Amino acid sequence: MSEFHSKIKTVEWIKTSELDGISRMVDQTLIPYEYKKIDIKTTKQMYDAIKTMIVRGAPAIGISGAHGVALCAIELLKKNEENFVEELKKGIDYLNSSRPTAVNLSWALNEQLKIVEKGGTKEEITHALIENAIKLENEDIEINKKIGDFGAQIVPKGATILTHCNAGALATVGYGTALGVVRSAYANDNTIQVFADETRPRQQGARITTFELVEDGIPVTLITDGMCSYFMKKGMIDVVVVGADRIAANGDTANKIGTYTVAIAAKYHNVPFYIAAPKSTIDMSIKTGDEIPIELRGEEEVTTINGKKICADGVKVINPSFDVTPNELIDGIITECGIFKPQELKNLFMKS
Ligand code: MRU
Repeated sequence: MSEFHSKIKTVEWIKTSELDGISRMVDQTLIPYEYKKIDIKTTKQMYDAIKTMIVRGAPAIGISGAHGVALCAIELLKKNEENFVEELKKGIDYLNSSRPTAVNLSWALNEQLKIVEKGGTKEEITHALIENAIKLENEDIEINKKIGDFGAQIVPKGATILTHCNAGALATVGYGTALGVVRSAYANDNTIQVFADETRPRQQGARITTFELVEDGIPVTLITDGMCSYFMKKGMIDVVVVGADRIAANGDTANKIGTYTVAIAAKYHNVPFYIAAPKSTIDMSIKTGDEIPIELRGEEEVTTINGKKICADGVKVINPSFDVTPNELIDGIITECGIFKPQELKNLFMKS
């Protein structure tokens, strides 16, 4: 891995004192044109950064949410807010409403809520929230490296791995989930390569996945979303590895729109299909993927490319940002605790 990318930190807490700090993050709306970090100083700025996808990718928005709660506590402390805990809880609900599908956001906010509920003075709670945000941030990279190492075991020698969207360093704090598998596999075998789906409408594959892999020197070929079955039929794809935004108890998996299509094509062509995701992406409170809320985003994402209209005025548009791949299309779920069949996820939680 190149020095540059082994050091990528998508989102990072910058401590200015024991009771103050900011969240520094890569502005992903600018990639690949510019690699720039911005400072987030308020709860509102964090809500906007998540909503407008300055930060995106399930684990990255989870950690950003945790930072957001720390920022909220700092703001309330500076105001000497009387109803500190009540207002903090409102801040948590507000951050949780920024994007609905990735469960990592509510998971991380809930980790912070547990700290709030432990109680203490305003200063003690604020300090504990800052420390917990830093802990979750550091753990994310370690978790991804474990996912990468387990996942590398399913990558055949010299394989071509197809991925959809961006589940890389920039979708997490660093290293990535699906691209973590790619990075670990490449470290063992530099003859592997990646096919990256463009991922309409926001082009996370074209903009962000190719950016990360080119920087790391890992061979990557960009294809458009409709091309995957063509290459599978030709025997040019050996395995599919994608990330996840929420996995139901039965293994049904929400990920970027278009993932389901890839999974159907993979099944038809006998190409193994894997999900790479941390345990925090598994939502055992819902039985099946039918219960996963799917974010609908603005029409302009579909009607324009780089701000330029690509369709007739007045055309109807629907823009669901995620779809759900049914468990029967998934060969395995690669987590930091090992690789599980969709039906085995319960065991994962019983063991811990
Ligand atoms: O809308 P995005 O860019 O946040 O969607 C991201 C994805 O769908 C990723 O595949 C998923 O969050 C996993 S990231 C490790």
